[in-house]
Amino acid sequence: MKKVLILGVTSNIGYRFYTMYQHRYDLYGTCRKLPDLKMLNVYELNSLSKEKLSMIINEVKPDIVINCIGIGSIDFCELNKEIAKEINFEVVKLLREIGYKAKYIFFSSASIYSGSANLYNEESIPMPLHFYGKLKVEADQYIKQKFDDYLILRPAPIIGVQQSFQRVNPATFIIRKLYQNLSIMLVNDVFSNLLFLDDCIKIMGELIDCDSQGDFNLAGNEIVSRYELGKMIAKAMHKDNGVIKACDSNYFKSLVPRPQNLILDNKKIKCEIGYEPLSISSAIEQIVKEQLNDLRKTLEEEI
Ligand SMILES: NC(=O)c1ccc[n+]([C@@H]2O[C@H](COP(=O)([O-])OP(=O)(O)OC[C@H]3O[C@@H](n4cnc5c(N)ncnc54)[C@H](OP(=O)(O)O)[C@@H]3O)[C@@H](O)[C@H]2O)c1
Repeated sequence: MKKVLILGVTSNIGYRFYTMYQHRYDLYGTCRKLPDLKMLNVYELNSLSKEKLSMIINEVKPDIVINCIGIGSIDFCELNKEIAKEINFEVVKLLREIGYKAKYIFFSSASIYSGSANLYNEESIPMPLHFYGKLKVEADQYIKQKFDDYLILRPAPIIGVQQSFQRVNPATFIIRKLYQNLSIMLVNDVFSNLLFLDDCIKIMGELIDCDSQGDFNLAGNEIVSRYELGKMIAKAMHKDNGVIKACDSNYFKSLVPRPQNLILDNKKIKCEIGYEPLSISSAIEQIVKEQLNDLRKTLEEEI
């Protein structure tokens, strides 16, 4: 059984990998603060020092290291450049300096692209519009130059089930609002082919088992706006009574410009492992079902 160390096991991707693959891999993780969950083999890693990271890696001796540590808030990265660089880039450098031989899996982002082209594949020229995107480009280049055995996975925005200790994603933001019977304004002029979290985890498993290398853009087949996503979620929650309202992207003020449309070409990953994404409607049904169960349980516990 392959030994896998997940750095940032509390992350959306890391935690789902941990729960889906408990029987497929020998799993280890690191996190800042252990959530109140039964998780085995998890090390506390509060400060990202080379010594501590090296100690954990050399004790676990993993075949695969998955780096899920990251700051995904574009505005936070813009306002806190030093900490953003430390977390989104310097950790990659630390891993290289530690020099432990393993397969490394890193996450880049669709935000390395400007959004002005119709479709982005792995050969497209990065042109980030903000600091978060620039750090991802820097990390991608560094990894390609310095690591021997690596995967750079570049997901489109991810939708999936969210734990109470995780940040919201486009789907759970809508589910939570609808659950509270609140109406929502969603943009109808920004499009992407969203990636289903469980598809992302399945892709990771396949790439590990095929011992694949290189960089892969990861996305679904269907291109939707946030407004269309909202309508689909409302339908799945039987709440489609005008609570989702459309607006254009000028409605929301943002600190930095964001790419208008981010459509990733998923041909390379399909070819590599025969990946076929779940339809977005089936993905939404699964997310809504699981998320509502979690929300109801949390509510019952609070009462
Ligand atoms: N989710 C997406 O839509 C998406 C799309 C494209 C790329 N990505 C990339 O994929 C990777 C994983 O994303 P995700 O959404 O699964 O992550 P996430 O849920 O935002 O979790 C981020 C992880 O980083 C850890 N972390 C943050 N700041 C830290 C710090 N100062 N010191 C130590 N640990 C820290 C968090 O620990 P705590 O739990 O303690 O806060 C958490 O484990 C990231 O590199 C992200 O940029 C994600």
